[in-house]
Amino acid sequence: MSKIVTIERFILDYQPDYARGEFTNLLYDIALAAKVIAHKTNRAGLVDILGRAGATNIQGEQQQKLDVFADDIIFRVCDHTGRLCAMASEEREDIIPIPEPFKKGSYVLVYDPLDGSSNIDVNVSIGTIFGIYRCLNWDLRGRREDVLQPGRRLVAAGYVLYGSSTMLVYTTGQGVHGFTLDPELGEFLLSHENMRLPEPPTFYSVNHAYFDRWSPAIQRYLRWLQGREGREGPALSSRYIGSLVADFHRNLLRGGIFCYPAEKDKPNGKIRLLYEAGPLAFLAEQAGGYASSGYEPILDIDPTDLHQRTPLFVGNRSLVYQVERFLQEERVVSN
Ligand code: AHG
Ligand code: MN
Ligand code: MN
Repeated sequence: MSKIVTIERFILDYQPDYARGEFTNLLYDIALAAKVIAHKTNRAGLVDILGRAGATNIQGEQQQKLDVFADDIIFRVCDHTGRLCAMASEEREDIIPIPEPFKKGSYVLVYDPLDGSSNIDVNVSIGTIFGIYRCLNWDLRGRREDVLQPGRRLVAAGYVLYGSSTMLVYTTGQGVHGFTLDPELGEFLLSHENMRLPEPPTFYSVNHAYFDRWSPAIQRYLRWLQGREGREGPALSSRYIGSLVADFHRNLLRGGIFCYPAEKDKPNGKIRLLYEAGPLAFLAEQAGGYASSGYEPILDIDPTDLHQRTPLFVGNRSLVYQVERFLQEERVVSN
């Protein structure tokens, strides 16, 4: 019989050397928020019966949209614990200070509360992405600078996938570990220890509808992924859910690459550096993979804006290196 390990036990046993209870409890707070969001997500199909977002429910209360709900839950679980000095969410314009009279801690939480929001109403997997930094200066903690840190300084990152089961996957720099929620126990149990991107990779994920908007190098890269342009090894198949978390998760289990390239009118693509690309880049590297904007490692990009976007290529190392090569060649030719 295999061991039953709860997320709480696992986090405690594997906390980094510098971490005391604060950091461990912060991850546990996120697990709690995840359970609340999972519960709500499972009832999303009932909104037609029980009332739509924006409509008023039976008690006369406004129904919240699921992404606003998720944003609010994460904030409310984390604002008063004394572990954080600031938060930043994809759903909010500015950084979120810790409200008075709560104590400020030393960590910073960045999050995309609900990723894949276009899939909420069609019962397709969605997720939450998060990253944790330490503040730069204890005496001045809680400033924008604490949030605008490159991914290389993340101390933890992870995501929650609300799919056929709810999973929480995270790293603190000691490998990537996955936990599955047992809905009856209400506990996340260790189900995927030390996840590694398998070789050879199986899938590529990209929105093909945008083919004409990409540069010739990216178009060539797509053909390369399809086994044309001289790629060796088994041909890759294509899968695209339109929820980054879900696409990333499948590729993490099966091997592959997620691409959201720059477009003619969108030179930075769509994916947000702080809330999406950075945390997933940390996870990918910890799973033996790599994430790049096509020109530099995602983890090395110094953010200047909270909602900054970046082209993203994340997955098996060999696949990400190749897109960098094609883009580099294009650059050399055009200079
Ligand atoms: P969000 O729902 O947090 O705004 O993110 C949506 C993102 C990402 O999850 C997904 O990979 C991508 O948008 C899909 O975009 P396209 O519809 O342009 O392919
Ligand atoms: Mn998102
Ligand atoms: Mn979102």
